[in-house]
Amino acid sequence: MDKGLVIKYFNERFGSENCSVYVSPGRINLIGEHTDYNGGFVFPGAVEQCIMAAIAPNGTNRVRAYSIDLTDYAEWDVGDKDGPDATCFRFVYGVARELTDRGVLIKGFDTVFAGDVPLGAGMSSSAALESCFAFGLNDLFADGNSVSKWDMVLAGQATEHKYIGTNCGIMDQFASVFGKKGQLMRLDCRSHEFEYFPFNPEGYRLVLVNSCVKHELAGSPYNDRRRSCERVAAAIQQLYTERKIETLRDCTWEDIEAVKSNCTAEDIRRATFVLGEKDRVLTVCDALVKGDYEEVGKQMYLTHTGLSRDYEVSCEELDYLNEVARECGVTGSRIMGGGFGGCTINLVKNGLYSDFVQTVTRRYKEKYNITPQIIDIIIGDGSRKLQ
Ligand code: GLA
Repeated sequence: MDKGLVIKYFNERFGSENCSVYVSPGRINLIGEHTDYNGGFVFPGAVEQCIMAAIAPNGTNRVRAYSIDLTDYAEWDVGDKDGPDATCFRFVYGVARELTDRGVLIKGFDTVFAGDVPLGAGMSSSAALESCFAFGLNDLFADGNSVSKWDMVLAGQATEHKYIGTNCGIMDQFASVFGKKGQLMRLDCRSHEFEYFPFNPEGYRLVLVNSCVKHELAGSPYNDRRRSCERVAAAIQQLYTERKIETLRDCTWEDIEAVKSNCTAEDIRRATFVLGEKDRVLTVCDALVKGDYEEVGKQMYLTHTGLSRDYEVSCEELDYLNEVARECGVTGSRIMGGGFGGCTINLVKNGLYSDFVQTVTRRYKEKYNITPQIIDIIIGDGSRKLQ
C-alpha cells in the first residue's frame, strides 16, 4: 500500500495534503479457531496487507469520510445517535463512539481510506479498519487522555458487537493492533496475557489459498456457534454451582460428558471441537519450540476436520482445498478464520511449494471454475502512524 495514494485522494476531496496517515494490518492465525470467545488460546500474527487511512481534524462536529475502494462517501455528526448505514462507515462511526466512551474527546474529522486486505477471505479486513481508526483517532484527539492499546482492541470488538451485529471474540483486533514483524503471538483470551513467538520455520512456507467464495450471511451462523458454546457452559455451571464457569475454557472433557443429556447433540459437538482446539494450540506451541513442523501440520489437519465435521463452519470448496493439500503432501492445511468460505492456511515444505500452488490452482479451477488466489504470508507490524 502506497501512502501517496490516500494523500492524493485526501487532497482531491478535501483540498489539502495536511493529514496524518495510519495503517493497520489484517491477520493470519496459525491455530486456535473459535477459541477466543470461549476464553481459550489463539496464535495469530499480523500480515503486510493492511488498511490505510489519511485523517485530519476539520474543526467542526462533522465527520466526512470517503472509501477509495468502494467509491462511497458519507457524512455524519460526531454526536449522531444512529450513524451512517453503509457498513464500511459504520466501523469508523462505531470506533469513534467507543473511543469517546473510553474518554477520548473526538471531534469532527475528514478521512479517506483504502486497503489491500482481501474482503471475505477470513483475513480480518474489518478488524484492520477498526484498528486503523482506533489507533489514528486516539493519536489525533487523545490530548492527554490517550487510551491503551488494549482499549483500542476492545473499542474495535465493541464496534462489531454494537454497530455491526457480529459477536466476535478478541483475536482479530488484538492481532491487528499488537502485531510485530516476523512474530506470531500466543494470546490467552481469558487473561489477555500474550507472548511473541519468532516465526521463521526453516525449510517451510506459509501460504493462503483463497477459495474466493463467501457463504455466510450477516454474521448469524457465527453468532449461532457462539450461543451453542455458551449454552453448554451454562449447563455445566448449573450442574456445578460451587464452581465458576464463565466459558468453555473453565470446562473439562468430563464436564461435557456430564451434561450430554441436558444439551442438544449439536451443541455438544460444538463444545467438543472447542475443547480439542484449546489443547491443539498448546501442542502446536510445544512443537514449534522443538522445531517439530510435522506435528504442527498434523494439528492443523485435525483442526480442519473438527471445524468441518463438528463445528460445521466449512463448505464444499474449503474441504476440497484441504483435500487437495493433503493429496499433494502439504504438511498442514486448514480453514482459517471464522469459516463459511475464505482461505485455507497451508504449511508447505519449500521443495513442494511450486508444485502445490500449480496443482491446487488447476484442480480448483477445473472443479469450481474459479481461480483461487494464492497469498504468500509475510508476518508484518501492527497498527502504526506513517506520517
Ligand atoms: C472471526 C472472529 C474472531 C474469531 C474467528 C474464529 O475472525 O472475528 O473473533 O472468533 O472468527 O477463530
